Order: sequence, then C-alpha cells, then structure tokens
Amino acid sequence: MAYSEKVMDHFAHPRNVGELADANGVGEVGNSRCGDIMKMFIKVKDNVIEDVSFKTFGCGAAVATSSMATEMIKGKTIDEALKLTNKAVMEALDGLPPVKVHCSVLAEQAIKAAISDYYTRIGIDPLPIVGEI
Ligand code: FES
Ligand code: FES
Repeated sequence: MAYSEKVMDHFAHPRNVGELADANGVGEVGNSRCGDIMKMFIKVKDNVIEDVSFKTFGCGAAVATSSMATEMIKGKTIDEALKLTNKAVMEALDGLPPVKVHCSVLAEQAIKAAISDYYTRIGIDPLPIVGEI
C-alpha cells in the first residue's frame, strides 16, 4: 500500500517541528520494537494547549502522524488532547500501511507523556501511562 497524499505532505513538510523553549510539559517515549524515540513539547495555559512541537528519530510515518497530531491538539483543552487516539490521527491522514500503524502510537503516547509531565510540574499526580509501546 502506498502512502496517502496527506501522509506524504506531512512527511515532506512537517508542522510544528523542533523544541519549544517555553514548554511547560515535555514527554518522551520510545518504541521497544525498534528503538525509535519521540519527544513532544507542550505549552499549556488555562488548561489549553497553546503551543506544541515535536522531535523524532522515527520514520516518515512517525513524522507524518506527529505533525498531524500536533495540529489536532493545538488550541484544544488538555482533556480533548488526552482523547486523541492514534486511530483518529491515522484517519485524518487517510490511513497508513498496516506495517506502519505502530509508528503512529508514538505521537499519541508522547502527547500523554507531555501532559503527564505538565501535571507533575503543577503538583497533580502524573498519568498512569506507559513509556514504552
Ligand atoms: Fe520507527 Fe516508524 S517510527 S519505523
Ligand atoms: Fe519503530 Fe515503527 S518500527 S515505531
């Protein structure tokens, strides 16, 4: 199966790449199957994700799903961001080849890890999330 046009677009021109200097939540997750790493930065204000960015050593599918995921949670509340699933991100990208589905989990997990880090910084119990997929 070939990549969709949207996947190719987000891979070639990823949105929100890099580190956020003023992030107040940073999450890093790794995929135990391949060792790929994803780092997500969020800036939260009044319970809203004002800004978000990512860095990854993952493959093109990881880049495209992260790019799309950052667009989908920007401006959303924390609760809305926590509900974002890798399935929803894949649907927004018009699908991924089956062998690449696990790569899309990195973005979802990294967002949850970043929110968990934010919670810790403001004195709320961290989320019970897994660091590995
Ligand atoms: Fe490693 Fe996709 S992130 S193969
Ligand atoms: Fe590592 Fe796909 S092989 S995330």
